[in-house]
Amino acid sequence: MKAIVVGNGGREHALAWSLLRSPNISRVFCIPGNGGTATLANCQNVAMSATDFDGISRFALVQGAGLVVVGPEAPLAAGLVDRLKAEGIAAFGPTKDGAQIEASKAWAKSLMAEAGVPTAASAAFGTDEKDAAIAYVRQNGAPIVVKADGLAAGKGVVVAQSEGEAIDAIEAILGGRFGEAGATIVIEEFLTGQEVSVLAIADGKTVVPLLPAQDHKQVGEGDTGPNTGGMGVYAPTPLLSSEQVDRVRREVLEPTLAALRSRDIDFRGVLYAGLMVAEDGTPKVLEFNCRFGDPETQAVLPLLETPLDEVLLACVEGRLAELDALEWSEGVSVCVVLASGGYPEAYEKGKVISGIEIAETQDAVVFHAGTTLQQGQLLTSGGRVLGVTTVAEDFEAAIAKTYAAVEPIEFEGCYYRRDIGYRIR
Ligand code: AMP
Ligand code: GLY
Repeated sequence: MKAIVVGNGGREHALAWSLLRSPNISRVFCIPGNGGTATLANCQNVAMSATDFDGISRFALVQGAGLVVVGPEAPLAAGLVDRLKAEGIAAFGPTKDGAQIEASKAWAKSLMAEAGVPTAASAAFGTDEKDAAIAYVRQNGAPIVVKADGLAAGKGVVVAQSEGEAIDAIEAILGGRFGEAGATIVIEEFLTGQEVSVLAIADGKTVVPLLPAQDHKQVGEGDTGPNTGGMGVYAPTPLLSSEQVDRVRREVLEPTLAALRSRDIDFRGVLYAGLMVAEDGTPKVLEFNCRFGDPETQAVLPLLETPLDEVLLACVEGRLAELDALEWSEGVSVCVVLASGGYPEAYEKGKVISGIEIAETQDAVVFHAGTTLQQGQLLTSGGRVLGVTTVAEDFEAAIAKTYAAVEPIEFEGCYYRRDIGYRIR
């Protein structure tokens, strides 16, 4: 079977790599892919934008692709899966109505309230409700969290330490900092605890959680500095036992799927719960995403033994209840992200990358995020450049093995956190 992966990040490289480990998959096309998918065996990049719905559906039909996996949230929220389904193409990911769970935080909050899912107390305000928003902050005090409602590339959340900072955020976001995405804001209670990502595959009726992972969102060691897309991740995190994952399934994922159904939404794809787990083990939802996490996918998929295409097709076809329990390798994984100096603020691109082949001889998988292959030369092209993952029998060994594999990789301005996994060491 031929498969198509839409997107160009580390997540999409990991999806293509994982699909190609399956005996059922002969070829993967990445639209548009990156320098890593360009050089992956049996994988080919297709120079087409993820927003070119006509082009993607035509290409899928011409190739007779048996599965299209849509990686990023933007094409999902814009209705790419709706379009592919209408053409009779097996497409993995929620339709536009389901993608609202990520594309609108206010919508997700009302869904959670309906479903009785544990989450931070909150209120939503529109552009003409600035005074009410400020009054809400004054009433509840700081720390408090101000979020743009829509998709803001991970930059739309301000964790305000003071009322003044919260009010500045309200003014900036309702004032247009994120355009339409900030036409509504959600202000919510500040939660404390450990952040854990539970990605689950949902087919509208059944939900199958993957191994829990812990991302490291902040750019600096010890979780300091501004938030990024994610600087490193490990799985399965012991911060959530398998009993607790089961609790998340019962208390969070299944009620959410039921609430989606009651809104006539047949949600098929990844239901990703970003959780804050309190000291007593109680999980609360910080946010939902409607897609695979990045970098979470780069740590979780290398542990999956069940062929990925079988899981995704069972999801697309509504057969998850019949699927055997997922098989996972015995080991654990650690992924460290190598970023361009300056990220998440301004950074330079076009730097020559070397040393990946050496890392690969050390039993590491090097997933590419912001890379491009130009005239045979691998260059940086984004903020997050590479994700280096290894699998080992325990975290101490996996952390050491990943950092040893990172060592030979070089590009000007290369930055990475040296403390990935520190919370469990
Ligand atoms: P989100 O995009 O909603 O997950 O928010 C991005 C990040 O902001 C999260 O990963 C948390 O680190 C932080 N955050 C979001 N909501 C809260 C909250 N209610 N309490 C504390 N931190 C939060
Ligand atoms: N790693 C965070 C995300 O995928 O949103």
